[in-house]
Amino acid sequence: MNDFPQWMQALGARAEQALEAALPAADTIPHTLHEAMRYAVLGGGKRVRPLLVHAAGEVSGASPEACDAAACAVEMIHAYSLVHDDMPCMDDDDLRRGRPTVHKAYDEATALLVGDALQTQAFVVLAGTPALEPAARLRLVGELAHASGSVGMCGGQAIDLQHVGRGMTLPELEGMHRMKTGALLRASVRMGALCGRIDAAGLEALDRYAAAIGLAFQVVDDILDVTADTATLGKTAGKDAANDKPTYVSLMGLEPARELAGKLRDSAHEALSGFGAQGARLAGLADLIVLRTH
Ligand code: IPE
Ligand code: IPE
Ligand code: MG
Ligand code: MG
Ligand code: MG
Repeated sequence: MNDFPQWMQALGARAEQALEAALPAADTIPHTLHEAMRYAVLGGGKRVRPLLVHAAGEVSGASPEACDAAACAVEMIHAYSLVHDDMPCMDDDDLRRGRPTVHKAYDEATALLVGDALQTQAFVVLAGTPALEPAARLRLVGELAHASGSVGMCGGQAIDLQHVGRGMTLPELEGMHRMKTGALLRASVRMGALCGRIDAAGLEALDRYAAAIGLAFQVVDDILDVTADTATLGKTAGKDAANDKPTYVSLMGLEPARELAGKLRDSAHEALSGFGAQGARLAGLADLIVLRTH
């Protein structure tokens, strides 16, 4: 595990390069749309989802090229979700990844179209990759579409917006977090695994890992909104309270939320126990997700 930081750095650079190649060039017509798509995706972000794809791919013996396609696709969906999440009709944020949000740097109509086009580009990449057999491509398209849609990320976002300024029970909050954030993280792990060969028991264990880190990720995001500053986060701190959002911190309090994140990290590690050294990268990513500062 000593090489984890180097692995992360190398894979982060690899993901950046793959994304750069998978996006239409900025001089493709219409120029502004393509420039804005590249602005939304490139040169920022922790790239947690691509890292999860590659780490899960290592468990199943997937080819790095197949993982590149899956990683690009899931990161494009993630970037689209952030562009729309920041728009005035949703969270109304001006800052993302340390820069003006897309609707601020461009305009709202462009931000809407950037999201739309990134979403479809994700499926262009997956459907067209020569690194996977057609049947595997179809399976991955299904996984990503399901995780992104009305019973996954979009559904979670809808629940989030419906509850602005209103209360929510803890089970409802958990369900919302599993959908709006957990679903795409889970898809990252499953898609990485499905780029290679994995039996049903292995996939089930990875799914338990993914469920734990998927929820932990948004619990920690809620915590950081309260504890970290804007410069560190690269997005405006304190926005959840300002927008009257139900979060783990608002429902449970800070310390119980931290304890929950720690427990979810333990569950993630436990789920990996059958993989031995092969699960080391995924274990490192569980630590990163829970212990991160931004
Ligand atoms: C932020 O995601 C939005 C959530 C799903 C909580 P990340 O924290 O992964 O954002 P980037 O990609 O690093 O900017
Ligand atoms: C966003 O959750 C989840 C998605 C974009 C799907 P948040 O609204 O908490 O994310 P941040 O804090 O703006 O990154
Ligand atoms: Mg939001
Ligand atoms: Mg937001
Ligand atoms: Mg947040």
